[in-house]
This record gives sequence, structure tokens and C-alpha cells, in this order.
Amino acid sequence: METSKYDEARLHELLYQALETEAGGIKIYETAISCAKNSDLKEEWQGYLDETKTHHKTLLEVFEKPGPDSKARTPGRKVVAHIGDSLVKAMQMAREESDADAAQLVAANASCSPRPRIT
Ligand SMILES: [Fe+2]
Repeated sequence: METSKYDEARLHELLYQALETEAGGIKIYETAISCAKNSDLKEEWQGYLDETKTHHKTLLEVFEKPGPDSKARTPGRKVVAHIGDSLVKAMQMAREESDADAAQLVAANASCSPRPRIT
């Protein structure tokens, strides 16, 4: 089956958003770990961070082949980045302006928060 240009553009957009999701996920889990009081949670989130780093590295390898530029900033990718940055900022705010229990709760919510893809 022949792949149309439309399909290729859509595939590239999905790759951009997937890469941004993993990059944002690294920041989210790093911040969540810094908010964790409970050692079991910290350990669980460290596992997710390790997985996310592996996913990010694997996606970057996809971009090493001819095709989309891993640094391209599409509108959909900007939205995904904004959502990830917002979750990180929410955790930082909770840590700075509230108590450790609240910060951990915000981190738990941020770590489980779905980050929708645009395409
Ligand atoms: Fe992932």
C-alpha cells in the first residue's frame, strides 16, 4: 500500500509529539521524585523515570534516520510541551507554597495525568 504525503506528515507529527511527551515525562518524574516523601512512591516513580529515559532515547534514534528533524517545533508539539511544563510548575508551586504532603499529592496527580496527543 502506498503511503500518501498526508500520512507521512501525520506520522512525523506523531513522532514529534511522542518525543515531546517523553521529554516532558522525564522532567515530570524528576520533579515528582523531588516531591516524594514516601519511599515506595519514590521507588515507583524512579522506575517510570528510567523507562521514560529509555523511550526518549529510542525515539531519538528514530530521528537519526533520514526524515523529520527532532528539533522541529510544530503547533501540536508546543501544546504537548506546554502541558508537561505546566505539570512541572504545578509540582514546584506546591513544593514551594505548601507542605510536603500537599506537594507529594500534586506530584502523584501530575505523574498520573494523561497528556493527550493532538493528532
Ligand atoms: Fe514512554
